[in-house]
Amino acid sequence: MAKKIIITIDGTSSTGKSTLAKRIAKKLGYLYIDSGAMYRALTYYAISNNIISKGFINKEVLINDLSKLEIDFRKGSLSECLEIHLDGLSVENKIRSLKVSDLVSQLAAIDEVRTHMVKIQHSLGQNKGVVMDGRDIGTVVFPKAELKFFLEASAETRAKRRFDELKIIDKEISYEEVFKNINLRDFQDINRSNSPLKKASDAVLINTENLSLVELENEISNHISLVLSNSL
Ligand code: DC
Repeated sequence: MAKKIIITIDGTSSTGKSTLAKRIAKKLGYLYIDSGAMYRALTYYAISNNIISKGFINKEVLINDLSKLEIDFRKGSLSECLEIHLDGLSVENKIRSLKVSDLVSQLAAIDEVRTHMVKIQHSLGQNKGVVMDGRDIGTVVFPKAELKFFLEASAETRAKRRFDELKIIDKEISYEEVFKNINLRDFQDINRSNSPLKKASDAVLINTENLSLVELENEISNHISLVLSNSL
């Protein structure tokens, strides 16, 4: 049987990480883990319980609740991928709103939140056979991963992609708000002191600007085949 590896895909938002990671995981029969969904689920919880709002965050309550909350991935009804669950309930279709996007990076900068999430991410990757996407997966979570990718694209292209996805669930949304959110999150994710978004020195850098999904998948698959054949 082929040796299982860990594949990390990091990059700014809407570079195509999750679509790609899902396809790669399916092809290899690996687990796909969307680490951003964990931070989004916690943000959704914090908004629902008045722990966070624009310009306000009750860190003490958040950190206290964190240890009691069950955040995990389970089979759900929306797709064949694992869905993020909060205390046993799927929140997969609640976490992509602009409201969550606007507050998630603020919460993801908190040390205790990161320590907690990284612990869960480590346990999900302990048997390998995982494709995990996020911001710090190749640098902090799995620095020894066998294969790392870092995706990039211009803010305009990413905002357009995100806007096209979001307008299906929110008819009121505008391109400008999405563009603003993407830039704000980039700034917060890149400039936070704990585990900032950056390319791991050994990650393969891919600009997804002018690549179709098939071209991107082919490029990634070539790297995977090489690593898998070298590790036999
Ligand atoms: O991948 P995403 O856009 O759904 O992630 C939402 C936010 O979560 C992102 O803006 C920053 C944070 N995040 C993080 O800090 N570390 C990760 N590994 C994944 C996401």
